[in-house]
Amino acid sequence: MSGATDSVRKFWHAWTIHPARVRKLWQPPWWQESEGFRDIPCRACRKFDANRQACAVPYGTPSRKCAVAAIEANLNDTAGQSVLEIGYGRWALARNLVRRGGGTWTGIDPRQPQGSPARMGQGNHGHAAAIPFPNASFDLVYGIQTFEHWGQKAGTVMEPSSYADCLHEILRVLKPGGRLYLDAPMHYHGHEMFIMGDVDRLRCLFDNTLWQDIVMERWRREYQPLTRFMPGAKVLAEWPVEISSYPESEANRLMQTGSAWLLTFKARKRSR
Ligand SMILES: C[S@@+](CC[C@H](N)C(=O)[O-])C[C@H]1O[C@@H](n2cnc3c(N)ncnc32)[C@H](O)[C@@H]1O
Repeated sequence: MSGATDSVRKFWHAWTIHPARVRKLWQPPWWQESEGFRDIPCRACRKFDANRQACAVPYGTPSRKCAVAAIEANLNDTAGQSVLEIGYGRWALARNLVRRGGGTWTGIDPRQPQGSPARMGQGNHGHAAAIPFPNASFDLVYGIQTFEHWGQKAGTVMEPSSYADCLHEILRVLKPGGRLYLDAPMHYHGHEMFIMGDVDRLRCLFDNTLWQDIVMERWRREYQPLTRFMPGAKVLAEWPVEISSYPESEANRLMQTGSAWLLTFKARKRSR
């Protein structure tokens, strides 16, 4: 598929997404939640086309396809909610789903120009460690393929942030009982925790006295009958810059035999 066709499909999917149709596809009981870890093998995903033995998301890398499936599964029910997207970039899928589902979407991204004061209901300049909104402003905070970049050393728009500072800010702007949803590719790029797939270290960022109902989902970790997916040489060349706390041999092993997958992280701010 050509790059141009891929972009058209991505754009078209974002502009035609329909919350009621999405909710129907992802309805329980398959989608019942339980605390802790949960694997979502490709062959069990609702975007798996058994006839073609292929993913039905018609564009993107394998981890982008998982991001689409996970957005549909997790962000399809935002009626009446005040929603913040962190690191929204240029992709409108989640934003359109939130808006069409009756939520009020607000975004922040450090790439947006600085200047005018941040306003609810629009895209603004801002970053995860300094969210330009008052305490308890949002029912839901989410970020798509941005979490792994907040603390990365190389190639970002800003100095690396501390994950503790970012999560402190997110807690501050969430209402009591408010929901957090993040996704990130593992064994791909970003901060070393994500490259190494260190889900235990990621889990430790979330203090049980502040967060509840924590669920981590591993999409595409079991990818057969689909193909293995790893970054190209340019992205792999960044790994040694990021990795300082893990043995080199472990990173080399991943490069040879690993396959990238998508982590989704969900939690709720405790109501005191
Ligand atoms: C790979 S892009 C993803 C953009 C979009 N969410 C998507 O899925 O296409 C990562 C985004 O995260 C943003 N970003 C990087 N560091 C950030 C930070 N500390 N706080 C908020 N956003 C950040 C970048 O500016 C960029 O727009």
